[in-house]
Amino acid sequence: MEDHIVFHRDSAVLDLLDQRKLPDSEERFLCRTTADVITALQVMVVRGAPAIGVSAAFGCAIALRESAGPDWREKLRKNLAHLRAARPTAVNLAWAVDHMTALWERNASLGPEDLMKLFISEAETMRRADIASCMAIGRFGLPCVHDNDVILTHCNAGALATAGYGTALGVVRAAFENRKNIRVIADETRPFLQGARLTAWELQRDGIPMTVACDNACASLMSRGFVSLCVVGADRIAANGDFANKIGTSGVAILAKHYGIPVYTLGPTSTIDMNCPDGAHIPIELRDGDEIKNLWYEKPMALPEVKCFNPSFDVTDHELLTGIVTEKGICYPPFNESLAALFKDKK
Ligand code: MRU
Repeated sequence: MEDHIVFHRDSAVLDLLDQRKLPDSEERFLCRTTADVITALQVMVVRGAPAIGVSAAFGCAIALRESAGPDWREKLRKNLAHLRAARPTAVNLAWAVDHMTALWERNASLGPEDLMKLFISEAETMRRADIASCMAIGRFGLPCVHDNDVILTHCNAGALATAGYGTALGVVRAAFENRKNIRVIADETRPFLQGARLTAWELQRDGIPMTVACDNACASLMSRGFVSLCVVGADRIAANGDFANKIGTSGVAILAKHYGIPVYTLGPTSTIDMNCPDGAHIPIELRDGDEIKNLWYEKPMALPEVKCFNPSFDVTDHELLTGIVTEKGICYPPFNESLAALFKDKK
């Protein structure tokens, strides 16, 4: 699936599959302005670190189209800054906007029309590169999956969360395509239910055997020997291997360590933030508490006056991780060395 993020060149409209409506209906959400793109990111029409990055790259073209007039440079700078700040945890957002800004700086003499062409073609390149990265992650991660594995995943790190194919679900897809006999347990992933709504939808479409379980069934499943491997995505991987992912991921990893089950996080190198020394430095998005009690129900699930605490991500300690699978290969502990080695050619 690659048509969940479409950019219409002529009209400069970003056309997104509205992930809030899945699995019931496949509706599109059109972004014509920077504010529309920011809304789409914040209400999670599009979500998942690499998908956020690619959408933001197209968002830069929309920001440019919107910044017409003699002071277009100043307006563009402002729009890009707003876009960059839409969500704090997934580093791919800042990475994509910074990448486009650097491209603009290298081509500072271009007028808006030519810059627009450059932005669109760069965003398309980033989209293709993300799909290629996910396929490579699937290939590199394949040896981590064994025949008869029961693979637990948390949240949605699939095609919907990327430009296509997925990271954690990329390796699941690769294993399935390679005829490994596997089964997936998708945590429901409260409160946004990315597992129950999105991961289950993707796997069902591909015919990959899958069961949805409550988040709090994890200990029970592991203690009874029903899970043999955990694969999750990442929103930001720090230089020491600590990583932020959907709230609940660290609990999965702590339990997996207790029961001796391997845990891998999988993500493109655009998700690695070498400027972030460790998990304590990763900004964690705090979302509206109403999501917990109101989001999917006709009536509030707790008294209306009850306050809810809703951090959207948590940090998993690198000591709980077996490996980090990227498009350049698998990093093993000590992660500060293996991650640094991925970037050494770039210095
Ligand atoms: O709040 P979300 O749905 O954007 O959070 C998504 C996740 O935590 C994913 O696991 C992560 O972005 C990796 S996606 C390949």
